Amino acid sequence: MKYTHHNGELNQHHVGTSVYLKGWAAKVRNLGGLIFIDLRDRYGVTQLVIKPENPFYGTALQIRNEYVIEAKGVVIERESKNLNIPTGAIEVEVSELIILNTAETPPIMVTNETDALEDTRLKYRYLDLRRPVMQQFLMKRSEITQAIRGVLVEEGFYELETPILGKSTPEGARDYLVPSRLYPGTFYALPQSPQIYKQLFMVAGMEKYFQIARCFRDEDLRADRQPEFTQVDIEASFVDQEDIQAIVEKILVKTFKKVLHLDVKAPFLRMSYHDALSLYGSDKPDMRYEMKIFDCAPYFSGVDLPLLTHQKFIRGLILEEGSDVTRKRIDHLSHVVKKNHGDTLAYIKFEKGQYSGSIVKYLSEDQLKSFGLKESNVLFIVPGNDFEHVSAALGALRIELANLYNLIPSNTYKFLWVVDWPLLEYNEEENRFYAKHHPFTAPVSAEALKNNPKDAMAKAYDIVLNGYEIGGGSIRIHNQEVQRLMFDTLGLSKDDIQNRFGFFVDALKYGTPPHGGLALGLDRVVMLMTNTTNIKDVVAFPKTQSAKDMMMQAPSDVDPVQLEELKIKAGV
Ligand code: AMO
Repeated sequence: MKYTHHNGELNQHHVGTSVYLKGWAAKVRNLGGLIFIDLRDRYGVTQLVIKPENPFYGTALQIRNEYVIEAKGVVIERESKNLNIPTGAIEVEVSELIILNTAETPPIMVTNETDALEDTRLKYRYLDLRRPVMQQFLMKRSEITQAIRGVLVEEGFYELETPILGKSTPEGARDYLVPSRLYPGTFYALPQSPQIYKQLFMVAGMEKYFQIARCFRDEDLRADRQPEFTQVDIEASFVDQEDIQAIVEKILVKTFKKVLHLDVKAPFLRMSYHDALSLYGSDKPDMRYEMKIFDCAPYFSGVDLPLLTHQKFIRGLILEEGSDVTRKRIDHLSHVVKKNHGDTLAYIKFEKGQYSGSIVKYLSEDQLKSFGLKESNVLFIVPGNDFEHVSAALGALRIELANLYNLIPSNTYKFLWVVDWPLLEYNEEENRFYAKHHPFTAPVSAEALKNNPKDAMAKAYDIVLNGYEIGGGSIRIHNQEVQRLMFDTLGLSKDDIQNRFGFFVDALKYGTPPHGGLALGLDRVVMLMTNTTNIKDVVAFPKTQSAKDMMMQAPSDVDPVQLEELKIKAGV
């Protein structure tokens, strides 16, 4: 045996036990001759004590932070106990001490608290990951992955792999390309998702597939996005929307129970895309708090107010406790509204029986009363001619207010299915349709896709947790003609269809079963289950916001010989 105990497990019950421990010196203190060493491993910390008369005292004097050491000794009760840590009632009186490896002074402190810059943490990621909080993130990630895998295997899904070197799949982002040496001038694309492959598994009759799959997307990064990330990718045959939703609910309920010991209730709430947008101003609403958006137009009928006349929509929301909404705060909130497609922000505040705010002077006492505002309420109003813009502005305002006024309950998980999506999105500037999900999503009616694509609805569903989209999926098109029609509606020429997706459209004609699926964003699920808002915390070796690997310094120049082999000329 390499050691007898981990460093997080010894307590008063072990007093008198001989132990053999290994780990890193987290902290070394010399207190009037007695040397105390906090010995750390991924399980916790044990305090070692070495007395001056100990033959290994000289060794102890040499030990610095982050040295790797092993110690033998006996567990004794501590004189002054630290009840904040599990091992705080005991210490180990050392009888033998060996240095296994030395360490230079680390460029970042290996402690839970850190004020190191993110770039430095990423550059020395192996030290950053040694910090106990970071180890916890990784360990939880592993537990979550295992739990999810367990449920899927239990439900009869087969775990299958798909290629990383493939052809572009249309998930809407830019591809990462890999040049081919054998076919100069041609490229593989890294998968944005295994979408096409998993559908081909259904054509192949595998019926229930899953994969913990790496995906690559060259897109603008945010706090919840990485250029390479992991999906729990699922596909099944002979299913409808409810079947896929039920399996995903089962995965999440069981994983929350197993890893967090939390009971979440299924079935989860369902809401249409339209309601999500109109009530919460978002297609991924955070359901942990209310503050619904509502139509304010009726209250302003007949009011002559330059700001609101000729506006198709006048919508708003009420902040219940807004007594400290100041001018400065309004400026800040107006900025949030404008940054999110809103033209302007108006407000009415009701406090101590008085109304105040930008538009109060235009309204009669009766009109003001008609809003039904209660003490300390503030009504925020955003007018505009574009429903989606007004909704987006109010949605962003709702989130900002919830954060500013601490309206979000902690340790609460609110799942939501967003359903009844439009199939397509029209881009006015480019004068063409885009798929709202991806082009393999089945329309509710192929007739509608053909005759009235703007209004065609999709058999698509997203799963949302606490305001984050944690997964998306759909029932797929399994008919070759409908798939062609979809590509056609998206503006792909016959040649495009043949060159990019010919193999796939072909496959559909050889007896494709009805099928559907979904992919969960594993990183986001882990992020939410570990209560962080930064996806980098739960990715072992993440990229920066500008897609750089600070540790390896990737992307980087390559050897000119490699470029020569690939017949590529580098240059900017
Ligand atoms: P979609 O594009 O919605 O669907 O992706 C599924 C889920 O993956 C997560 N996700 C990301 N996580 C981190 N960084 C990113 N850059 C990133 N992009 C997406 C999100 C998202 O909900 N093939 C379809 C799935 C299907 O239809 O079955 C797909 O990829 O949580």
